[in-house]
Amino acid sequence: MSTHTNHEQAGEEAGVPTAGIQDIAFATGHYSFDLKNLADQHEIDVNKFYVGIGQETMSIPASDEDIVTMGAAAAQRIIERNGTEGIRTLLFATESGIDQSKSAGVYVHGLLKLPREIRTIETKMACYGAIGALQMALGLVARNPKEKVLVIAADVARYDIDTSGEPTQGAAAVAFLVQASPDILAIESSQGVYTSDVQDFWRPNFRNTALVDGKFSVGAYMDALVGAWHDYRDHDGVDFDEIDWFCYHQPFTKMAVKAHMRLTREAGVPLDKPEAAQALEPTFGYNKQLGNSYSASIFLGFLALLDSETDLEGQRVGFFSYGSGAVAEFFTGIIQPGYRKHLRAQEHQAILDARVPIGYDRYRVLHPGTLVQPLDNYRTERETQGPFRFEGVSEGSRLYR
Ligand code: HMG
Repeated sequence: MSTHTNHEQAGEEAGVPTAGIQDIAFATGHYSFDLKNLADQHEIDVNKFYVGIGQETMSIPASDEDIVTMGAAAAQRIIERNGTEGIRTLLFATESGIDQSKSAGVYVHGLLKLPREIRTIETKMACYGAIGALQMALGLVARNPKEKVLVIAADVARYDIDTSGEPTQGAAAVAFLVQASPDILAIESSQGVYTSDVQDFWRPNFRNTALVDGKFSVGAYMDALVGAWHDYRDHDGVDFDEIDWFCYHQPFTKMAVKAHMRLTREAGVPLDKPEAAQALEPTFGYNKQLGNSYSASIFLGFLALLDSETDLEGQRVGFFSYGSGAVAEFFTGIIQPGYRKHLRAQEHQAILDARVPIGYDRYRVLHPGTLVQPLDNYRTERETQGPFRFEGVSEGSRLYR
């Protein structure tokens, strides 16, 4: 990335209180699966995965983990560091929903023993769901700057065995606190939004695994990027060259490289593949290791940028979120002076290193298969070392400890 400017804090000039991300944390599954195992199984060159799609390992949850246990583990870090005072809303974004009615956030609320005086809901729009939740949170904080919103994004990305999507599976949760005068990121008011009814990726209720038209989904992502970018520019968005860093939804890291080449072309300052890859490299560290975590992925790109060696104070980050189906958004935020207080690169590396590596046979046992099994009663084996466990199902009710 070339020159980086120190921008005014968002909103400060106009005397409007800033709002955005105060603190952010992540959690992931118990196991890691090196894509070398998959390449060996398919008798193909592993560089198709390591280089071609830019992914190295994927996280895989144990049988006693799911979006609730990962989401609770990430949110616990936020609550331990910030307390619960001021939190009046919990938004849980996911496309790996575990119930058609009850928000996964209510289970997290119970596990973390949060105060009763909180509204809790689930948001869904594929990988875009957490950006929708973030915008709702900003609206609530704008109405009452004393209020804070806890947002959790948690997903387990699963495709069928032996499909093109298989190497892009993954799992993770991110939790963050949205409030006025935030320490980490003040979000600016301009947004570029986009909706188009396309069938590029979907998961019917009876399936554990997503259906995807892979190549078509890449094109749909690009169309949404161009649409959201122009809408952003039409709604008082800043010039391309006023944005210092770009943080994309990363279903696989090479998707972001393709997208950045497209955006720079659209903005009239085209970058070739190595230049685009170099510009985005600081955002790739975690997603390369975790795989696609759908709604959490864009925030893991942001966390990787924060944890990179760069001094980011006062710099503007452009975010592009894409949710298949499709809804997308482009917006920006300014990194705040207090962001360094929240840097936890060592802790984040320890979370990645704590995962237990598994081989192909174990991976196949843990893969749930295509169809949801209609079981009203079962118990899971104890596998995870994480703070929360999914214990099984009793008469249709999910049990967590
Ligand atoms: P594919 O068709 O198996 O891969 O899967 P390919 O044959 O196109 O190869 C991929 C790249 O590897 C190519 O580079 C090859 O040249 C290269 P490119 O042309 O793209 O620059 N390659 C190699 N490089 C080095 N050494 C080698 C080698 N061999 C090949 N030996 C596909 C690709 C994206 C279709 C597949 O991964 C897929 O189906 N993924 C799932 C869908 C997906 O992630 N779509 C992304 C956009 S949609 C989205 O982001 C939303 C989503 O997150 C869901 C949501 O919103 O909820 C998915």
